Amino acid sequence: MTKPTIAIVGAGKAGTALGVGLAHAGYEVTGVASRTPEAALRLARRLGCPAAGRPQDITRAAGVVLITTPDRVIGEVAGEIAAGGGFAPGQVVLHASGALPAEVLAPARAAGAAVGSLHPLQSFAGTEADIKALRCCFALEGDAAALAVAERLARDLGGEPFRLAPGSKPLYHAAACVASNYLVALVDLAAQMCAVCGLAHEQAVRALLTLVAGTVANIERL
Ligand SMILES: NC(=O)c1ccc[n+]([C@@H]2O[C@H](COP(=O)([O-])OP(=O)(O)OC[C@H]3O[C@@H](n4cnc5c(N)ncnc54)[C@H](OP(=O)(O)O)[C@@H]3O)[C@@H](O)[C@H]2O)c1
Repeated sequence: MTKPTIAIVGAGKAGTALGVGLAHAGYEVTGVASRTPEAALRLARRLGCPAAGRPQDITRAAGVVLITTPDRVIGEVAGEIAAGGGFAPGQVVLHASGALPAEVLAPARAAGAAVGSLHPLQSFAGTEADIKALRCCFALEGDAAALAVAERLARDLGGEPFRLAPGSKPLYHAAACVASNYLVALVDLAAQMCAVCGLAHEQAVRALLTLVAGTVANIERL
């Protein structure tokens, strides 16, 4: 089966990791758009494709549109692209949010596209390590046609896709926060406790992270 072409809207950490990862997996990224021309150009140069000032200039002809803007503007960006005629029937439009449902892409669905979300259950830092980090689990939800494509993208990225039960996105997002954000808070709290015991902050964090790594390894063996 031929691989669909990809347009990326939002050239930040997730957009860069997914764009570069998909290019490595043999997908053709046909254009990048972002809020600032600099960010779009940076990623476009890396992928050897055009950067666009207006997202609709690169989205209309793409098989898959990945909207990797911050969560708060995904709906707005989808609305702007739709108003500019940037979605087409038969297309798949995906966002990467772990919290928002596919419905936030309603303007794309109204234009005949299948919509969904492809959330890498991973933390990206904007470094080269992000590309390898894509070998993670991906949470999917949305329209049937979008799910099938998202599943394929996740597998081709070296990841493991799973489908979320309808309506369960808030709980899924809370689970991800408990496992990731709470860990950061816990390590910080423990480091503050160690400071009272006389350890320097850096020394405490290093010591505690060794402990955390050992605990994670033990959990993996369970
Ligand atoms: N980072 C992670 O660890 C991670 C993990 C899983 C999922 N995600 C999801 O990935 C998505 C992006 O997150 P991120 O961490 O990659 O954010 P980010 O690094 O802040 O990147 C967001 C990008 O979107 C662009 N942007 C902002 N407003 C825009 C607009 N109105 N139109 C077009 N582009 C716009 C920004 O452009 P400029 O650079 O030009 O300002 C920026 O490049 C979110 O849905 C997030 O939940 C992130």
